Amino acid sequence: MATISSLHNPTSESPFPTRTTNSFSPPSTLNRNIAFSGNGYQHFRLRIDGRSSWETKSVHTSDQSHVLSKTESSIISDVPLLSSSEVLDRLKAEREKRKRKQNYLAMYSSIFGGITTDPTAMVIPMDDHMVHRGHGVFDTAAIMDGCLYELDQHVKRFIKSATMAKITLPFDKETIRSILIQTVRASKCKHGSLRYWLSAGPGDFLLSSSGCHGSALYAIVIQDQTPFDRKGVKVVTSTIPMKPPQFATMKNVNYLPNVLSKMEAEQKGGYAAIWLDDDGYIAEGPNMNVGFINTENAFLMPSFDKILSGCTAKRVLTLAEKLVRQGLLGEIRVGNVRVEEGKKAREMMLIGSGILVRPVVQWDEQIIGNGKEGPVSQALLDLVLEDMKSGPTTVRVPVPY
Ligand SMILES: Cc1ncc(COP(=O)(O)O)c(C=O)c1O
Repeated sequence: MATISSLHNPTSESPFPTRTTNSFSPPSTLNRNIAFSGNGYQHFRLRIDGRSSWETKSVHTSDQSHVLSKTESSIISDVPLLSSSEVLDRLKAEREKRKRKQNYLAMYSSIFGGITTDPTAMVIPMDDHMVHRGHGVFDTAAIMDGCLYELDQHVKRFIKSATMAKITLPFDKETIRSILIQTVRASKCKHGSLRYWLSAGPGDFLLSSSGCHGSALYAIVIQDQTPFDRKGVKVVTSTIPMKPPQFATMKNVNYLPNVLSKMEAEQKGGYAAIWLDDDGYIAEGPNMNVGFINTENAFLMPSFDKILSGCTAKRVLTLAEKLVRQGLLGEIRVGNVRVEEGKKAREMMLIGSGILVRPVVQWDEQIIGNGKEGPVSQALLDLVLEDMKSGPTTVRVPVPY
């Protein structure tokens, strides 16, 4: 790997910066962390036997064998140097020990150019630009009754995101689609989800992607048999700033604001936190769009110009036309939605491929409607579920198991 050659690189981009006293751990954890690499001065703290105080030492790393005491060298040798088969054994043991919430059935990687069903082998290179610089995009598709729901819509957005992130496709669109279907086929999964990533690829640990050897495609199939939840949830207004439109409209892997916003919601007893845009209009949740039924019985949805264009939300807009024909809904409007209008709505819902349509019964301190799951949210969820099970071939791609 290129990391070895950059070991002696003295710039701030060096993957092994000199340790400072502040980052050093007490002796109990020294054996896990200590690692001297490269030339130059290294600073560390150590407790001298029989003394309670800490002392700071500086050593020139090229002379370290002369300076380190016997105790220190025995501490250093506590870290085992593992063969690749030992690493694999340990990874396997660790994976078995860990109680897994999710079951990973198959993974494709363009790095090894195939599919594996062994979860231990489902890894990606550390020097992949997606891992250390966030230079990657991703997307999903639900697997329902052996069909991929809205695969083509998701793949279209996936490729658009890759273009926006300046990631050259490793294969053409049809090949990517075929690899995704073959990965689900190998997994034998009938219910769950498919997740996939396009990355600038492995190369080095530098900021520029010019050292990446070529873009990479990864995909994973996760089994999930749990039924979609219909229970109403509480949401809060996010205090975490939302991403600017250029980044919010592409599904890139920089989800730190989304993660922090979800954590904020959970800390406040909510399910999701809702972003408002710079003009105070309702934007979206951390991994879902939002919709409202206002007091005039209109279905309102914020427009997609500053947020992610949700595949589920767009499908829901189409399916909702049936409810207009049935008279359950007045009209459908996509545009700016003010917070006051949203909070005063008769119904509010979260919409996304992970939750489908989830009623919201409270936003901050405001009870939505009568505080119960609304009839339109329920009807829309039923329509999506029906669409997933027996919708047209434009939204259901059967997997040839
Ligand atoms: C930020 C954000 N908005 C909206 C959505 C909903 O999109 P979709 O319905 O395509 O899953 C997602 C999906 O993950 C998302 O991450």
